[in-house]
Amino acid sequence: MKNSLQELIILYHEKTKHHFHNYAIGPDFLDWQNQPLPFRFYRGSEILPLPLLEKDPDADYEGLYKENQQCSFTQENIAGFLELSLSLSAWKQVPGERWSLRINPSSGNLHPTEAYLILPSTGNIPCGVYHYNSFLHCLEKRTEVPEELWQKVTEHFKTEGFLVSLSSIFWREAWKYGERAFRYCNHDTGHAISSLRFSANLFGWKIKYLNSMSCDDIERTLGFHKTEWKELEEEYGEVLCYVYSSNDDISRGLTEEIISSFSNLSFIGIPDELSIEKVKWEIIYNTAESVKKSVTEERFYDYGNKKLDLSSVTQLKASEIIRQRRSAVDFNRYDSVITREKFFSILDKTLQRNNTAPFDIEISMPSVHLFIFVHNVKGLDSGIYFFIRNHHDLEEIKKLSHRSFLWKEVERDFPLYLLKKGNFREEAKLVSCIQDIAGDSAFSLGMIAKFRETVEKEHWRYPQLFWEAGMIGQVLYLEAEAKGLRGTGIGCFFDDAVHEIIGFKDNVYQSLYHFTIGMPMKDERLVDCPPYYHLKRLNSEY
Ligand SMILES: Cc1cc2nc3c(=O)[nH]c(=O)nc-3n(C[C@H](O)[C@H](O)[C@H](O)COP(=O)(O)O)c2cc1C
Repeated sequence: MKNSLQELIILYHEKTKHHFHNYAIGPDFLDWQNQPLPFRFYRGSEILPLPLLEKDPDADYEGLYKENQQCSFTQENIAGFLELSLSLSAWKQVPGERWSLRINPSSGNLHPTEAYLILPSTGNIPCGVYHYNSFLHCLEKRTEVPEELWQKVTEHFKTEGFLVSLSSIFWREAWKYGERAFRYCNHDTGHAISSLRFSANLFGWKIKYLNSMSCDDIERTLGFHKTEWKELEEEYGEVLCYVYSSNDDISRGLTEEIISSFSNLSFIGIPDELSIEKVKWEIIYNTAESVKKSVTEERFYDYGNKKLDLSSVTQLKASEIIRQRRSAVDFNRYDSVITREKFFSILDKTLQRNNTAPFDIEISMPSVHLFIFVHNVKGLDSGIYFFIRNHHDLEEIKKLSHRSFLWKEVERDFPLYLLKKGNFREEAKLVSCIQDIAGDSAFSLGMIAKFRETVEKEHWRYPQLFWEAGMIGQVLYLEAEAKGLRGTGIGCFFDDAVHEIIGFKDNVYQSLYHFTIGMPMKDERLVDCPPYYHLKRLNSEY
């Protein structure tokens, strides 16, 4: 049923489309003086430094997806889990400027995503709610949690573990991208979700998204209602997950009794200001309110147990793949080629399966498909293809797209369909805001979500569609590295121009995110120093 909330959300989506001659509304110029800090510091909070990994988990490439040996929830392992998901990964510099990169990517490297942990007593970390500060690789204590309260959490989930949460500061992206920024924040959340899930897998841990909880309940649990946010720098609580290691399934929420006990605690620390002058992009905050999730029934998803394609493995360890992930800035068109087997192996990893990272975190059933521009895949015709991640949508997509499309199955039992042969490099580049990376790669793609019905049924699914796209993006980033190539997420594309190529005339399906994979040109701006070299200078114990 459509109501005013859904109308608002669909209006936001329409209004923030880029068109050839009319980009979504953003700032007229970049106000460098007020670029928001990409790191949050809580003034007055106790800082608990985390150790850096002395040795990475031993998992090989397959270990990204399959279960690994369980590690215990020690301080070192929890620190390692954060290091391999959200920490700094490298530095880049040009004369006069140096900036960090992270394990998780972010549109414009602006990093709107913040992370919190609720931990039991672990090593010298008292039971409490903590903010993860990736610049210092430390925890900032927001509050201590009474042991009896944590006991209730453990009893509720019937297994030991800890909670991890993600939230967004929209201003960080809006500073550069204006109204479209809300979309990018949610993509980034999706990337971070996959990042957390892959990292947890390396320690033999599982994660489930607590899908019954409302956004308000997540914020109350983290103490956001008691935090002195600076105007327009507030965080929006989005995701709360339980990390655990048992084989039994767990509840997908917290009880009201537990949530209100957390919300009654006193929270310490005042968030530092990120920029002095800010611009209020009204539509973002209205949309963020409209998509806020309410309390729902717990949901348990069954994705099936389709066998993983592990035909093209690499010598790289899982953690090496995670650490070396970068975005390509330029591709060498002539070297950007991939074999058919490797291409299939990449696509296969984007399918949702039970007990297989990252999608077994269970956000939803698959709602996003891949519309692919195949430029140079050895053994496969160049042209446009659809990779259908949820076969329930196949007939509908066929009906809505151009009637001339071939829909030729490429291989038995693999949901890849050839639509039309040809060289589509120019079209791919054109629809991706004329970015060369979309045309010079081995292949690029648009992520096509089942849109209108999903949002009309449940308004809070709007950001989740972007999370799913971001999660797929993270899989593609890691797979590209594993195959000796490199990927780049593409948030800038001309929405309806993509739909026109497919033949979509309305918003039953919408393209939400693009991605491209090829052979990168060397990025001369990368600095050869460890990601935490700055801490070594400050404090010899790091
Ligand atoms: C949601 C999203 C959208 C992005 N859009 C673009 C884009 O349109 N063009 C581009 O060149 N890079 C794009 N990127 C890549 C980012 O610029 C890159 O992640 C960021 O600079 C950090 O660098 P790293 O990925 O190497 O860590 C995007 C990344 C994400 C996560």
